Amino acid sequence: MTDKPLSDATSMRTDHCGTLRIADVGREVSLCGWVDRRREHSEHLAFVDLRDHTGIVQCVVDGGRDLRSEYVLRVTGTVQRRLEGAVNADLATGEVEVKDCRVEVLAEAEPPPFPLHERTEVDETIRLRHRYVDLRKPRMQRNLRIRAQVNSAIRGAMESQGFVEIETPMLMASTPEGARDFVVPSRKEPGAFYALPQSPQLFKQLCMVGGFDRYYQIARCLRDEDLRADRQFEFMQLDAEASFADQEDVFCFINEAVRAAVEAVVGTRPGPIPTMTWLEAMERFGSDKPDVRFGMELVELTDIFADTEFNAFKADCIKGIKVDGGAELGRNRLDSLTDDVKGWGGKGLVWMKVEADATLSSPVAKFCREAELRSLVETFDAQPGDLLLLVADERATVRSLLGRLRTELGRPPVTQGGLHFLWVTEFPLFEAIDDGGRPIPAHHPFTMPHPDDLELLETTSGTDLLAVRSQAYDLVLNGWELGSGSVRIHRGDIQSKIFDLLGIGVEEAQAKFGFLLEAFRFGAPPHAGFAFGIDRLTALLAGEENIREVIAYPKTQSGADPLTGAPNPIDEQHLRELGLRVLPRD
Ligand code: AMO
Ligand code: AMP
Repeated sequence: MTDKPLSDATSMRTDHCGTLRIADVGREVSLCGWVDRRREHSEHLAFVDLRDHTGIVQCVVDGGRDLRSEYVLRVTGTVQRRLEGAVNADLATGEVEVKDCRVEVLAEAEPPPFPLHERTEVDETIRLRHRYVDLRKPRMQRNLRIRAQVNSAIRGAMESQGFVEIETPMLMASTPEGARDFVVPSRKEPGAFYALPQSPQLFKQLCMVGGFDRYYQIARCLRDEDLRADRQFEFMQLDAEASFADQEDVFCFINEAVRAAVEAVVGTRPGPIPTMTWLEAMERFGSDKPDVRFGMELVELTDIFADTEFNAFKADCIKGIKVDGGAELGRNRLDSLTDDVKGWGGKGLVWMKVEADATLSSPVAKFCREAELRSLVETFDAQPGDLLLLVADERATVRSLLGRLRTELGRPPVTQGGLHFLWVTEFPLFEAIDDGGRPIPAHHPFTMPHPDDLELLETTSGTDLLAVRSQAYDLVLNGWELGSGSVRIHRGDIQSKIFDLLGIGVEEAQAKFGFLLEAFRFGAPPHAGFAFGIDRLTALLAGEENIREVIAYPKTQSGADPLTGAPNPIDEQHLRELGLRVLPRD
């Protein structure tokens, strides 16, 4: 066999359909593709639009009555200039057509289960049931090719920084990432199960102990959690870890990968990525993944109402947001926003409209002092026509309620406002205290506390522990959490202290993470790492609201795969081999 030349051509075709231009006029070409559309021109002549992933070209075919939509053809003919008046400006190949065509039907096709034109809205399950047809659409062709560019750029960026790709197992013991595991029963040891990795977290840390000081992997992760627009059971991460490295080093490595991916898709390299502490993000945006494409920041108002007589405002914290020009919102909309806030766990919502004379009108204005209302206008720098929305409650509640309102009212569509990356740093070490008074880790139990808060860890307890910061950080893009990481604990004494606080006893720690703790006794370098979701990055770069649109074979919202029918029952014999019996449903 001889090596084929590196070109678009194969033994069956000379060119791709969408690439033909005026410069090709006069050439004889062979094209392969699917019939996009066929129009009768006259009794003996048809126009067949032939499509491949590069686009469509019009072929003038003798007869052609038997050529149906989605038939697979090989067409050989001569490129000619279209007659003036027949030029199609909407088509890249619109100035030319292929004439004197010899047509070979390579495969017939049943009528497609849904039209392939973008303007037709097709039910998700039907699209996924026939995903191979859906994939022919320009949108899916574009999205999966963007995804490939992202992967390739990430690999290049990581490798040029000396990261070594190492593959970690799919069949393993459970990882503590906080979701439910998918499990695989063992045939050799009935009753025992492997867990599929929620991430390669523990293995990558072991690679650090193993002397690979820069590891990366484009890793498949599996988590049994409720599916949403930005969540699938299976997803891909760029997973990375580095030894003798701190948070700043990780930012540099990851910035490089993310910038390379953006450049590969968008063509321009984003500038430096700013950082913001978690506390600042919560205070200003009411979210740990602030969408900084738009303003509408939370404004602190607690001091203004320090001596208020309005009962609803006698609270720990009062903040508000200003909706520019929002005074035109009608009563119904304002009532439904108030209901939203109550539905999210708030006590209520105060709205105030800024009148032409810069005074405030609101059903509760009469309960507020003149000076309080004046201060509000000043603090917000409110202009006539603006709307002020105020919430009073405990600080954490105020932040999260206003954060949700802010996105509800201000968030631009995914395709607008550009790409705004942000590093959010100094996440709290614990996200909550459980009913038994135990802290719940915000990330995973191997996250290093902030060096300035190590002492706090010794001296505080209960809810005060929530103030302990960690060296965990997130990368945020347009309000989506793109990725997370942390500096890890590599010292046994700190790890024991954390396990102790989390209520993980010596035995449990030994049973769950014994292999990691043991490895750390054999010389563990200080290390830090990160993982970001490739599905999420690709979706945002492709301008898609749902990661399903950038995954070749995703699951539906309910976790099913309509194409293969998964999940499906297995037969009795198979179950017996695995030592399993299926209980009847309740
Ligand atoms: P984390 O659990 O935050 O961190 O996951 C990192 C990133 O993976 C993506 N992601 C998902 N994408 C699609 N569907 C899902 N169900 C899903 N779950 C997570 C997100 C998320 O930000 N081992 C740590 C990283 C580390 O500490 O190095 C980890 O997995 O974009
Ligand atoms: P009430 O005194 O409960 O009838 O509430 C009067 C108004 O204040 C209503 O519009 C409520 O939605 C609003 N409100 C009540 N509690 C709060 C609160 N904690 N924060 C903001 N608005 C509130």
